Amino acid sequence: MQFDTVIIGAGAAGMMCAAHVGGRVLIVDHAKAPGEKIRISGGGRCNFTNMYCAPDSFLSQNPHFAKSALARYTQWDFIELVDRHGIPWHEKTLGQLFCDHSAKDIIEMLRGLMQAAGVELRLQSSVSNIEQHDDHFSLTLQTPDRQAQIKARHLVIATGGKSIPKMGATGFAYDIARQFGLPVTDTRPALVPFTFAERRFAEISGVSTPARVTAGGTSFDEALLFTHRGLSGPAVLQASSYWREGDPITVNLIPANDLFDNLRAQRQISGRKNLTTELAQHLPARLVDHLSTQMELSGNLADWSDARLSDLAQALAAWELSPSGTEGYRTAEVTLGGIDTDALSSSTMMAKDIPNLFFIGEAVDVTGWLGGYNFQWAWSSAMACARSI
Ligand code: FDA
Repeated sequence: MQFDTVIIGAGAAGMMCAAHVGGRVLIVDHAKAPGEKIRISGGGRCNFTNMYCAPDSFLSQNPHFAKSALARYTQWDFIELVDRHGIPWHEKTLGQLFCDHSAKDIIEMLRGLMQAAGVELRLQSSVSNIEQHDDHFSLTLQTPDRQAQIKARHLVIATGGKSIPKMGATGFAYDIARQFGLPVTDTRPALVPFTFAERRFAEISGVSTPARVTAGGTSFDEALLFTHRGLSGPAVLQASSYWREGDPITVNLIPANDLFDNLRAQRQISGRKNLTTELAQHLPARLVDHLSTQMELSGNLADWSDARLSDLAQALAAWELSPSGTEGYRTAEVTLGGIDTDALSSSTMMAKDIPNLFFIGEAVDVTGWLGGYNFQWAWSSAMACARSI
């Protein structure tokens, strides 16, 4: 069997590429259904892009690499595609766009586009023995009922990263890159909850509060969630991408107001008010209880001098915590790192030294923030590849 293009991985990037590349196309996935991560994303509603998508919301060893693809297929292009297919959507917060009904709308749209383009989809199938010849790649395709030898002029690797192995994530892309002599950067779980020794926050698990979380010099102002195992919530997931094993993180529990001024003003008005009662105006009561045992927050406001109130406000604004680790690939939304961008063309995603071999999506060392950025990278990198073939 001979194809113009064979795509391995029928996730977000693979399907988007298959739908737009043209010619005779085969897309292969070992899962039972295509786009499984799309299906579970955004709590089942798929945060499919972000209105404020820009290159500075992506991490990579080469921060310039993503610019070209993101500029040539933007969030507005994908929104236009979604609109053309009549999929209703809404902005939740911070420019994050979600389907009104279900993430399945996005999968159905991509499946429909692939069908219209005559793409052959093989599920529960795998590819092995990939070799490059003068003007084509040869590979062995194993489907549930047979084995076949395939020839492909272009080969696109869209098998994603290592996050959530239970859903079929593999290091396949990295293995293929190495087979062809392409460098792969260190990879690690990102957009992932932190864990702490001795289940430090178990007693306040479920408590959520707005916070500014800083790791590796980068801060995010969003919700923080205490969990049985440690810390989660958007601010924490975002910060995890900038965290290095062994480093502390800083949590500002009062990012929105000047606690010191507020406490001083309250002391003036009602000095007999309990300090913890007043703090519970600014923080969840269960969190105040938890902090009060650790920081000895007893007494009335009148008992607290300016100096002590100032120390307290500072402590709550710069709470240094040392995670023991993260929940790892088991729950990480993405993999940081991947195919070294030095080895790829930023305008086509083709390997610079291996003509007609392409890597797209999460497999590449481009990782977005939480909030629709990773899907936008999947769409943009897929289109850069599809348009160049
Ligand atoms: P993706 O992982 O989507 O696809 C890879 C495909 O390759 C899979 O279908 C897999 O089965 C297949 N495959 C792997 N190895 C193979 C092999 N050896 N042989 C054959 N097939 C193989 N992002 C975002 O922007 N908004 C959001 O709302 C969310 N939400 C979210 C929730 C959760 C729980 C997770 C885990 C992740 C997200 N993400 C997200 C991240 C987003 O899902 C991710 O960045 C994209 O799916 C990446 O798209 P790719 O196509 O590159 O990989």
